[in-house]
Amino acid sequence: MLSVDPIRWPLEAIWQAVQPDLAGFTCEALPTVDSTNTELMRRLKAGQHEPTLLVAEQQSAGRGRLGRQWHGQRGDSLTFSLGLPLSPADWSGLSLAVGVSLADSLDPANAPGHHIALKWPNDLWLSQNKRERKLGGILVETATFDRQRYVVIGVGINVRALALTAPQTTSIAAGCLQDLQAEADVASTLLRVVPSLVQTVQAFAQWGFAPYQARFARRDALAGRDVQLSDGTQGQAHGVTQSGALLVHTSAGMKEITSSEVSVRPVTGRAPSGDLRPC
Ligand code: BTN
Repeated sequence: MLSVDPIRWPLEAIWQAVQPDLAGFTCEALPTVDSTNTELMRRLKAGQHEPTLLVAEQQSAGRGRLGRQWHGQRGDSLTFSLGLPLSPADWSGLSLAVGVSLADSLDPANAPGHHIALKWPNDLWLSQNKRERKLGGILVETATFDRQRYVVIGVGINVRALALTAPQTTSIAAGCLQDLQAEADVASTLLRVVPSLVQTVQAFAQWGFAPYQARFARRDALAGRDVQLSDGTQGQAHGVTQSGALLVHTSAGMKEITSSEVSVRPVTGRAPSGDLRPC
């Protein structure tokens, strides 16, 4: 039987960094689960309401936005969710603030031509010499229990390119963090992103998206580009508002796109291949 080395998740270091700011915080790693978002939602329903980080080596039913699937192989894809009680005055822009936090943690240099870009509303793209590929995605879900709102923030990041021998590999190309940083692995990536993600979520609860607007703009993959919305509308993307709505200049004037049911793709240049991780 093939033996695999256990992934050494830096849970103690993460807990040490996070718990002073987040009372009752726990973190846990599972070898496999259907979906870390689904599992945290199940736990919330079962009355486990403490702030929790759940990372899985493998998901059997990983979910993306708009009912899509998220596929990832053990050690290739970092898949985790952070669940906690949260009561912001306005939830708009949370997935954008999360994207800013992840991108800034993973790519502080943000060098032109070779950086992590953000595609409204929830994608991380790897932008290298005008080639764009999907690096990761964010799935934000909320629920109310006993009149308290909770959020579950799911994050999937392609860290390592799929092994060519993986039985389910297809030809869809996705970007991976190792294309930017050869030494990256799933365990160290988790430690890099989680403490600032928690701080971001707490700051968002207090001040909303507005403080992140400029940082989003520096990584905005769509700004100035012709885009097409899934409802057929075409126009030119003009950044995001203080509440995280996408501004699109259409023939009928400037439109603010807020619907989480709308997807957007650039019509100039190539949309990244591998909208979701290949499997
Ligand atoms: C997207 O690209 O639409 C969002 C993808 C989010 C995937 C992550 S992986 C960890 C967490 N658990 C899930 O089932 N989905 C999110």
